[in-house]
Formats: sequence, structure tokens, C-alpha cells
Amino acid sequence: MVKIECIIRLGQLEPVKDALGSYGIHGMTVSQVMGCGLQKGRTEVYRGTEYNITLLPKVKIEIVVTDKFAEQVIDVISKTARTGEIGDGKIFTTRVDDVLRIRTGEKGEDAL
Ligand SMILES: Nc1ncnc2c1ncn2[C@@H]1O[C@H](COP(=O)(O)OP(=O)(O)OP(=O)(O)O)[C@@H](O)[C@H]1O
Ligand SMILES: [Mg+2]
Repeated sequence: MVKIECIIRLGQLEPVKDALGSYGIHGMTVSQVMGCGLQKGRTEVYRGTEYNITLLPKVKIEIVVTDKFAEQVIDVISKTARTGEIGDGKIFTTRVDDVLRIRTGEKGEDAL
């Protein structure tokens, strides 16, 4: 299993969620985060204002999927979240050893 952690623009959350839903992906964790990348948060425009600060509001989506779905999920997120402007975000992928569904005790891929 793989954890796909993506940091995207706030405005891209709904389209990305919809795209994931149409792929049958329903389990996800979404957080509001602050972050910066190469530009150190300085040159990006957020809601029409040029922020002279080092952190900008972003959305983080975490999804754990089976290995065979990972590539498709990464592909759909990157295509949906891309505007081509700086600050589109990043996708980090890490391996996940195990998952436990607390209600049933199921483990591994059965618990996703
Ligand atoms: N190396 C990193 N480690 C952790 N989080 C990061 C890293 N780079 C970017 N992020 C997160 O992703 C968000 C968006 O990054 P961003 O898209 O600006 O990356 P970038 O490398 O500056 O690329 P671009 O030039 O397209 O803006 C940041 O606000 C931050 O939350
Ligand atoms: Mg950047």
C-alpha cells in the first residue's frame, strides 16, 4: 500500500475530490495547512492579493491506496490540480506497512 499526500491550492480541492470520487476513491483525510515552496511564499498571489509573507494557505489530502491504484490516483490528482502557475503544489508518496479498520479488526488492503 502507498500513502499519497498532496498539497494543492484551496480552489482545487473540490475538483480533485470529485475526480477521485469518480475513480471510486472515497477514503481520504483533508487538512488545511500553511506552506511554502521554492518562492518561499512571496510571489504567489492568493485571492488577488500579493502576500508578502512566507507561508500561504494550502490544502493537504492524504489517501492510502493499493499499489496497483497509486499511479492512476497520482495521475488524476496532478492533472486536476494543475493550473500551470507557480504554487500548484506537490505530491509525496510513501509506503504504508499496515492499516487496521478499528470497527472490524480487518487489516491490510481489506481495511482500506
Ligand atoms: N520540499 C517540500 N517539503 C514539504 N512541503 C513542500 C515542499 N515543497 C512544497 N511543499 C508544500 O507544497 C506547497 C506548494 O508548493 P509549490 O507548488 O509552491 O512548490 P514549488 O517547489 O515552489 O513549485 P512551483 O515553482 O511550481 O511553485 C507548499 O506551500 C508547501 O506546503
Ligand atoms: Mg512555489
